[in-house]
Amino acid sequence: MSGVAIVSGAADGLGKAYAEALRDAGYDVLGFDIDHAVESLEGIKGVIADVSQRADVERIVETASGMGTIEVLVNNAGTHRRTPVDASWEQALADWDFIMDTNLKGVMMLSRAVVPHMIAAKGGHIINVSTYYVLPAKSDGTNQPDTDLYNASKWGLNGFTDAWAKRLEQHNIRVNGMCMGAVDTPMLRRFFPDGQLPQDLSDSVMDAADIAQQMLDIMASGRTGENFGAWVGEPITIGEQPPLHKRITG
Ligand SMILES: NC(=O)c1ccc[n+]([C@@H]2O[C@H](COP(=O)([O-])OP(=O)(O)OC[C@H]3O[C@@H](n4cnc5c(N)ncnc54)[C@H](O)[C@@H]3O)[C@@H](O)[C@H]2O)c1
Repeated sequence: MSGVAIVSGAADGLGKAYAEALRDAGYDVLGFDIDHAVESLEGIKGVIADVSQRADVERIVETASGMGTIEVLVNNAGTHRRTPVDASWEQALADWDFIMDTNLKGVMMLSRAVVPHMIAAKGGHIINVSTYYVLPAKSDGTNQPDTDLYNASKWGLNGFTDAWAKRLEQHNIRVNGMCMGAVDTPMLRRFFPDGQLPQDLSDSVMDAADIAQQMLDIMASGRTGENFGAWVGEPITIGEQPPLHKRITG
């Protein structure tokens, strides 16, 4: 039986590309999403579920373990709102719950549910999908204005990636972050009127399939506890391994 890969937020965008790349690499893929489109992915078990809900997370992991040995978890589902620090408290508190429940609590719950399976299987890969707003930093690419809570959620992922990589290395479980710039997805297009990318961005935006290939390269590298960057206009590679103190915390 081939290994099982779980991808959150798999209906569209990067999640769909991750799910398809893992399917093409020979995994039995369970992709889940709050969007029903996930049910029509070819060759992928698509399930409706919300990563911010514990019961949904437990159902997903139970279903995946019934498919075989869970070897890969891609924590991709993420959501975005602009919440500048001088926005109202009411907006900030509502956006906090909306963003953190998916971007951090969902990652925490899904990973905690999967890790015992990976420990029993003596190995696995966890990929945390972050953003180039964090690390490895480019000077003009960190802490984009007005995205305070989204940024905080993605910096929070660093804590998980770092701690879990160290804790789980003894079990042959590798944990890495992916920190990409603009990728052509529905999320990116929602930033622009009518979903139209400006010409310069349209010419340079990255393709989700190339980022998914980078994920396969990360898994094949055997490296753990790192954030891997991908920047518009630059080749998408996994690069040289940085010194230990620069991998997650800069
Ligand atoms: N597109 C980019 O330029 C870019 C850049 C950096 C990081 N990212 C990150 O990549 C990941 C994917 O982004 P994308 O651009 O493909 O976004 P997207 O909005 O196009 O797709 C995200 C998918 O996640 C699903 N989702 C949202 N909340 C969910 C929940 N609670 N439970 C289950 N599914 C849920 C959505 O329905 C959607 O199908 C996110 O974590 C995002 O922060 C994207």
